[in-house]
Amino acid sequence: MFKLAHISDIHLTPLPRPNLSELAGKRLTGYLNWLRHRKAVHQRAVLNDLIADMQAQAPDHIAVVGDLVNLSLPEEFQAAQNWLEALGDPEKISVVPGNHDAYVTSRSEPGIDRWRAYMNSNAEGARYKATASDRFPYVRIFGPIALIGLSTAIPTPPFQAFGTLGGQQRRALASTLAQLAEQNLFRIVLIHHAPLEGQVSRRRSLRDSVELSEILRKFGAELVVHGHNHQSSLHHLETANGLIPICGVPSASSSGAHKHQPAAYNLYQISKTGTGWRCEVESRGFHQPTSTTPNGEIGELARTILSASPDRDR
Ligand SMILES: [Fe+2]
Ligand SMILES: [Fe+2]
Repeated sequence: MFKLAHISDIHLTPLPRPNLSELAGKRLTGYLNWLRHRKAVHQRAVLNDLIADMQAQAPDHIAVVGDLVNLSLPEEFQAAQNWLEALGDPEKISVVPGNHDAYVTSRSEPGIDRWRAYMNSNAEGARYKATASDRFPYVRIFGPIALIGLSTAIPTPPFQAFGTLGGQQRRALASTLAQLAEQNLFRIVLIHHAPLEGQVSRRRSLRDSVELSEILRKFGAELVVHGHNHQSSLHHLETANGLIPICGVPSASSSGAHKHQPAAYNLYQISKTGTGWRCEVESRGFHQPTSTTPNGEIGELARTILSASPDRDR
């Protein structure tokens, strides 16, 4: 049995105070929004409590699916690197970037490169990469489990938070999924933006969601995990070979202020059954907003059997 923890939208705090030159362009509107709204939502104490609960479940692996930072300030990337290092070894943690991790285009700062040890293929997975030179998709294989990490993170104009995979990454994903299907592995796709068309407003959407769904329908996947919406969600993509569960989680640091969903994460228990798989998901998190009760209780929120598929197309 393999236990995967899925957390997202860390939006790490405290936010370093940006200097004037850093507040040009999109960061200015982002910072004002931070002060007005998001500062009350994303709390380090909430994140710390959630992580403590998650670590107590002893997951085999942790997927962190984007928005580790807020304004892509240089100090934030360093702080997120420190946070990842405290969370665990790169072999136990897989990261994909979100739109806040590519908030602006920066030429001088390594940015997400600081997290590269958490965003690369392992030796076994590298064999299934379509192009050795591109970082995404990366492939990590742990026994019968394959993790495929995608990047939808691109800088966007103010008030926009859309993402895209782009043609090259989509072609590589199709080829990787096709190769992995031959190996009878449980394929988990990691992506920041909600992957299905209509899951979110166009302003915040994945622009090539239709093309991604086509790829998933054609080549299959056993599970897709995402973030970005700051909401717990479960959808299914219908394919000729059955349903692909698509799971979203709230922000891991959300206090629940401003009617945001309080912080939660998903824990998947995956096991092989005869000719197929069994995958059960437990959502764990705060039962109620924590802004008024700083020591809010964390516990099980929901439990669902996602798949108990007897067959999969070869
Ligand atoms: Fe986010
Ligand atoms: Fe996001």
